[in-house]
Amino acid sequence: MDKAKPIIIAPSLLAADYGRFAADLRRADRAGADWIHVDVMDGHFVPNLSFGPALVEALRPRTRQPLDVHLMCTQPEILLEAFARAGADLLTIHVELGDRVHSLLWKIRALGKRVGLAINPPTAIRMVEPYLDKVDLLLVMTVNPGYGGQSLIEETIPKIQWADTQRLKRKLNYHLQVDGGINYKTVVDCARAGADTIVSGTTLFKHYNLKIAIQRMRRLAQKAFRQGREG
Ligand code: DX5
Ligand code: ZN
Repeated sequence: MDKAKPIIIAPSLLAADYGRFAADLRRADRAGADWIHVDVMDGHFVPNLSFGPALVEALRPRTRQPLDVHLMCTQPEILLEAFARAGADLLTIHVELGDRVHSLLWKIRALGKRVGLAINPPTAIRMVEPYLDKVDLLLVMTVNPGYGGQSLIEETIPKIQWADTQRLKRKLNYHLQVDGGINYKTVVDCARAGADTIVSGTTLFKHYNLKIAIQRMRRLAQKAFRQGREG
């Protein structure tokens, strides 16, 4: 990833107003969001439920931006096709699924979608090593997934650094995404460590002017990322 590669800001719809969902999506689209982050929770992999393929299908015609679908699910194999058909552009599964990860990544690729791999805070970062040359996106979770509005776990920052170093060393080009507790302060720490793809729910959606919030987040991330590269 070179210095000039743009930062991607992906507002998380988990923090949208569910009574005005389509309006909030339109708000994010018009405010300059690069991707729309959709959190899928199955009530098993994480202790919460959220959205299914039908929602992605309803969102698809309402935005021009890529739909970045984060599957916090124990059995993504039964969902991938439905999400692909519904219009997801990028499908991210978790490395905690163990020996099924390889075939799941392959299946996402075979469906013609961009491939993402996520890792939870307690999982050792080395677990993702065998897959780094097979993904378009690596998501380093900065909170334990399940809920929006949590505080970033600082111990995840060295994992971002490790993932960025690997990317440079192995000349790979995956997006390095962070998700959970990202605000105007924590985005600086994450981007300085090498994160270039920023998911943020609460901080962005609670701002009365989403455009200003996205611009501010982008500016901070861009500057910190550059500073991290320059040492
Ligand atoms: C956490 C989800 C996140 C969440 C982030 O389980 O994966 O995408 O929406 O929300 P904030 O930015 O509020 O921490
Ligand atoms: Zn997410």
